[in-house]
Parts: sequence; structure tokens; C-alpha cells
Amino acid sequence: MNRSLNVVITGAGSGLGAAMARRFAAEGHAIAVTDVIPERAAAVNAELQGQGARSFSQVLDITRDADWAELHHRVMQEWGGIDVLINNAGVAAAGLFEESPLSDWEWVLAVDLMGVVRGCHTFLPLFRQQAAAGRKGHIVNIASFAGLSGMPGISAYGTAKAGVVALSEHLHTELRDCGVGVSVICPAFVQTNLLDEFRASDPSYRQRVERWMKQSGVTADDVANDVMRAVRKNRFLVLTHKPTRWAWRLKKWWPSRYYRMVALQSATSRRSS
Ligand code: NAI
Repeated sequence: MNRSLNVVITGAGSGLGAAMARRFAAEGHAIAVTDVIPERAAAVNAELQGQGARSFSQVLDITRDADWAELHHRVMQEWGGIDVLINNAGVAAAGLFEESPLSDWEWVLAVDLMGVVRGCHTFLPLFRQQAAAGRKGHIVNIASFAGLSGMPGISAYGTAKAGVVALSEHLHTELRDCGVGVSVICPAFVQTNLLDEFRASDPSYRQRVERWMKQSGVTADDVANDVMRAVRKNRFLVLTHKPTRWAWRLKKWWPSRYYRMVALQSATSRRSS
């Protein structure tokens, strides 16, 4: 897709979402900067407009149907259609399964999984209608490597993200020949504000995630570049961190060895925190 695109991004007021907003705007695309925190969405929108981008900001809590309906209305009013939907907004929780309260499960599943379902549900009829008239579209879902691999201490988050991977795969098959591409992005750690709302059963999880984010070597801008490439080349599964590409292959080809390696790494990281 080489023309100027209309791109909706959820959670675009911070981290990966803000980086994607900047990246797509830099290529001349129009951006709907949405976030549950109005000030965040407004600040990124002001920055983009200051650089001459075509953008607007809209408050969107991805767990609220009424907010999605309002966003759909605004998109039609401003642009008359959509080309790319990036379901990015998310939250994170950690703790061993029996230490994680059901309220954490409900929170993470409502935002990280059902928020993505709601986004697709809101815009898919429009995507299909446009595609039937020859206008191709693309849905990008931001999952996580935690959605591809079980690890101790993140069962709620990992289950929600595995759901996003599964949903994306089902959509990929359903939409295959109708002109709507689907990508699912599975990053490992990236330094962002994800820990602002982080819930964990004990403080050691936060310390470990902070350390892994600092050591990541992959920035939000790198992930934004990968997302841009995935849309351009219509790539389905994108692993943004080199070590996870290797780990993903090992898990598929040699699962028993992979799970031994995960157990060993987890024990080492618990001891050093
Ligand atoms: P972030 O916290 O910097 O950005 C997330 C944005 O989503 C925030 O601006 C927040 O206000 C917004 N948000 C939270 N709940 C919302 C809701 N109910 N409705 C609308 N917006 C909401 O975090 P980050 O890292 O940029 O997260 C983006 C996505 O990347 C998330 O889905 C996260 O799970 C995923 N991810 C992040 C990784 C990391 O290490 N930072 C690794 C793998 C995946």
C-alpha cells in the first residue's frame, strides 16, 4: 500500500503506540491518536500536528463499546474510511498462577484480549465493505512473545496475548482472499511506560521487568519500523527480537529442550533479583 493511509492506533499516547504514530506520520499517513488517558493522546497529536501531520486525537478506552462506536463515527466523519487499525493498547500483570487474584485476570483479559476483539469487531465490517470496492486494508494486533511461549509468573498476561495470537490467526485465514491483511506482532521487552499500571504479586517482578527493559537492545522505534514493514509486505507473524526468533524455532522443533531452557533461565533470573 503506497498511497496515503488512514491509520487508527490504540494506546498511541505512549511507548510503542506513540512510536508507531510518529513512524506512520513521518511517511505522510493520517493518524487517529487514541488513548484512555486524554492528555497523552492530545500531547502526541499536538507533536504530530506540529510536524505537519494530518492527525486527530480521540479518547478511547478499548474496553468500552460506546468509545469504539464514537471512534468509528469520528473516523467516518474525518476520513470517510480506514486503511490500518493497530490494536496496540495493553496492560501487564505478573505473579505465579495461585498468587494472581481473579481481578487481575479479569483486568488483563478485558484490556489485552477483549480490547483487541472489540477493535476488530468495530472496524471489520467497514474493512470488508471497502475491500469489496477495491480498497485494501490491514489489521495489526500487538501481542507479545509471552503469547507464543509459556513462562513462569505471567500466566494471565501470557494467556491474553496467546488469545491475541489465536484471534489474529483465525482472522488471517478468514480474511485471506478478501483484501484485508492481518499482522500479529510479538515483541519481547522494550523500554516503555508499561510498568506505570503494572500489577504484580511481589515487587521482585517489577525489578526484573525493569532490568530486562533496560537491557533489551530493541527500542520502540525499532518495533515501529517492523510494524511499518509488516503492513507494507503483508507479513503475518512478526518477532521483533532476534533471540525470540531463535527461541520460537527451538520450541517448535525441540519442545522438551526448550522448556528445560525456560525453566533454567527463570530459576537463574529469580536468584539474581
Ligand atoms: P505503554 O504503557 O507505554 O503504552 C500503552 C498505552 O496504552 C498507554 O498510553 C495507556 O494509557 C494505554 N492504555 C492502557 N489501557 C488502555 C485502555 N483500556 N484503553 C486504551 N488505552 C489504554 O506500554 P507499551 O509497552 O507501549 O505497550 C503497548 C503494547 O505492547 C501493549 O499491548 C503491551 O502488552 C505490548 N508489549 C509491550 C512490551 C514491552 O516490553 N514494553 C513487550 C511485549 C508486548
